Amino acid sequence: MRERFPVEARRFMTPSTAADTILDQLKHKIQLRQARVGVIGLGYVGLPLALLYSEQKFQVTGFDIDARKVDTLAQGGSYIYRITAEEIQSAKAQGFSATSDYSQISGMDAIIICVPTPLNEYHEPDLSYITGTTHSIAPHLRGGQLVILESTTYPGTTEEVMVPILERENRVGLKAARGEASSDNQKDGNQKEFLVAFSPEREDPGNTTVARRDIPKVVGGLNAQASEAACALYGAIFNRTVPVSSPAAAEMTKLLENIYRCVNIALVNELKMLCLRMGIDIWEVIAAASTKPFGFHPFYPGPGLGGHCIPVDPFYLSWKAKEWDFRTRFIELAGEINTNMPYHVLASVGSALNRHKKSVNGARVLVLGVAYKKDIDDLRESPSLTIIELLQKDGAEVSYHDPYFPFIGRGRKYDLQMKCAELKDLGKYDCVLIVTDHSDYDFAHIVQESQLVVDTRNATRGISSGKIVHC
Ligand SMILES: NC(=O)c1ccc[n+]([C@@H]2O[C@H](COP(=O)([O-])OP(=O)(O)OC[C@H]3O[C@@H](n4cnc5c(N)ncnc54)[C@H](O)[C@@H]3O)[C@@H](O)[C@H]2O)c1
Repeated sequence: MRERFPVEARRFMTPSTAADTILDQLKHKIQLRQARVGVIGLGYVGLPLALLYSEQKFQVTGFDIDARKVDTLAQGGSYIYRITAEEIQSAKAQGFSATSDYSQISGMDAIIICVPTPLNEYHEPDLSYITGTTHSIAPHLRGGQLVILESTTYPGTTEEVMVPILERENRVGLKAARGEASSDNQKDGNQKEFLVAFSPEREDPGNTTVARRDIPKVVGGLNAQASEAACALYGAIFNRTVPVSSPAAAEMTKLLENIYRCVNIALVNELKMLCLRMGIDIWEVIAAASTKPFGFHPFYPGPGLGGHCIPVDPFYLSWKAKEWDFRTRFIELAGEINTNMPYHVLASVGSALNRHKKSVNGARVLVLGVAYKKDIDDLRESPSLTIIELLQKDGAEVSYHDPYFPFIGRGRKYDLQMKCAELKDLGKYDCVLIVTDHSDYDFAHIVQESQLVVDTRNATRGISSGKIVHC
């Protein structure tokens, strides 16, 4: 097993190596803004990251296999709601370009991988995007480069999955620099090695309270030089970097953060269901508990988990844990409770309609908000999709409205083919179901116009009406 020492300790134990030479060269280039940065995967994580480096005067090349994204960027357009075309155009003026051509990898000094890490149909990690990317990079790898993985994944991915492919499939016999002194301690040793690190993305989409720069960046290198090089690279765009002793520690850090959220959301979802039964307002309780100045952090109930991270990432760890003959029971229990929430919403709509002597079967239901959280244009794993499918299955005539989605087509797990309804004549619906509380909505007006409102988000707080059912 690899020895694990604190970064600084390992640094002192390691004699001057090829990795030191690479580190010095990279740091110099980063300082002078001469380092060429390649970002692979230009999605919600990769594109903003590429733009941040571009703003800091780095030469940035983005890589994506989606030709439509590459074309849109080439034409100076954007496909992410919160990124404007002007931002893309000013990055282009700074030298930013996008391509699907992996041969350009050899021209990069640092390569940052931000590709998806979903679950497969058996709820197991699907590393095919990471392995696909790594297979594509390997033939174009050259000595002296820094390769960083940012995709959220289980501990061991960087070292056990990515590095072996890079070492096996590069064309010139390169090896990843590790903790021990290099056998290639000669002057051109840096031609035979590359540096590797893992650094998790911590972005919180839609959060406008913390600037991206102010989110500390955790970094775990395969050796001390890789950590230091990655810290230098991220130090150019983040105010603080946090080195940890290994890629696995950095991978685990990200999972701890997301499991913490997943488990606490499940706890509050369970307590909400109890409070509903007991006639207690969970939102009032959370607000009161939040006045405690220590030892309590508020989490909020909702219609179910959504997004690329919280519903997915914990299961990366529970899968990996099995290799160690270990069951992650908190993750499984939280998963069970959170997965059940859309079913709870369906039951609540049913009992709300029942009070009006109506049934779900045949009811006209408007789902308000389909994004997985407020004010963002992201539909991935959104509970609204499950809720729509469940309502349809029970015979409801479902429409939806969301300012961010004029159309819902086909995704990995759904095929709805629905067009956004107009936000008018709300009285024609038997039930308006609030799933996502976008800021654009005037909830007082919505309640006034509707026959019945089922609210999964406490969006109607402060509005007094017998039409509202909290769920
Ligand atoms: N979105 C978030 O808020 C967020 C936050 C923290 C961490 N993450 C993690 O970051 C990673 C990326 O997430 P995302 O939201 O940016 O995903 P995304 O789906 O928005 O973007 C991924 C991009 O990678 C591209 N891609 C796929 N395979 C490729 C390949 N072989 N070569 C080049 N490009 C390829 C896709 O075309 C897509 O444009 C995931 O592991 C995710 O868990 C995301």
